[in-house]
Amino acid sequence: MNILVIGANSAIAKAVARRYANPANAFYLVARNEEKLNKNAEDLKARGANQVEIKSADFAKAGIEPEVIESAKASLGRIDLVIMAHSILGDQAVFEKDLDALNQLYQVNTLSSLNLLTLLANEMEVQKQGNIVFIASVAADRGRPSNYAYGSSKAAVVTFLQGMRARLAKSNVHVMTVKPGFVESPMTEHIEGSGPLWSTPEKVAEIIQKGLVKRRNTLYTPWFWWGIMTIIKSIPECIFKKLNL
Ligand SMILES: NC(=O)c1ccc[n+]([C@@H]2O[C@H](COP(=O)([O-])OP(=O)(O)OC[C@H]3O[C@@H](n4cnc5c(N)ncnc54)[C@H](OP(=O)(O)O)[C@@H]3O)[C@@H](O)[C@H]2O)c1
Repeated sequence: MNILVIGANSAIAKAVARRYANPANAFYLVARNEEKLNKNAEDLKARGANQVEIKSADFAKAGIEPEVIESAKASLGRIDLVIMAHSILGDQAVFEKDLDALNQLYQVNTLSSLNLLTLLANEMEVQKQGNIVFIASVAADRGRPSNYAYGSSKAAVVTFLQGMRARLAKSNVHVMTVKPGFVESPMTEHIEGSGPLWSTPEKVAEIIQKGLVKRRNTLYTPWFWWGIMTIIKSIPECIFKKLNL
């Protein structure tokens, strides 16, 4: 299988890639930090991956997506599985004051994702096979005062994916939206917290791999986040406005 990992330095993406590191699989890893990319490539090769090539790309720069997909195709030929995990979490308080930061959040999390997904959809529709996994977030389910900039940057992609999934299903291409809750990773290391609501990249990766086998459409990781978000979504606005969520 030929696997394209976008945001390949992410803790979750690394854990997913490791689960597929065997002689049957070739990888094309895309991320921003080249040093980390090289380390990840060595790690996957040591774990048995057949071929691993890397590309450094900064998705804060508009318009680089066609070149990224072209280079992935040149390396892999047919792309069988795509994992997309690049993202900024950022700070809601900053986004409320700094329009440049807000626009950058949308450039990285939303616009680059929509562009990459559009290019990949067209490619895979012709192939008539393949899987696309997009790591969204439970934060996309409802705009909350504490992180509505980040949440909405993911929600736009989640809605886009719903339509894309129905379009590509007719061409035997499966699109899976993953919604993790709290996961221990560099993205969340500034957040104090531990306990039953927290998961690890390895656990999330295991759930993703199983979800792909079952061709799940939307996957809450772990599953109990489905229940939590169902409750949060059902809180009436008149009460929601009084909460500090
Ligand atoms: N951790 C959580 O609790 C949690 C919860 C829900 C959803 N998620 C989602 O899960 C995905 C993976 O997150 P993670 O927890 O594994 O976080 P992570 O380890 O911090 O990974 C995020 C990755 O995004 C990449 N990135 C950031 N800005 C970029 C840019 N301008 N261009 C290219 N790449 C850029 C970084 O690449 P470099 O290292 O190369 O700079 C980084 O490795 C994200 O989409 C995140 O929103 C995470």
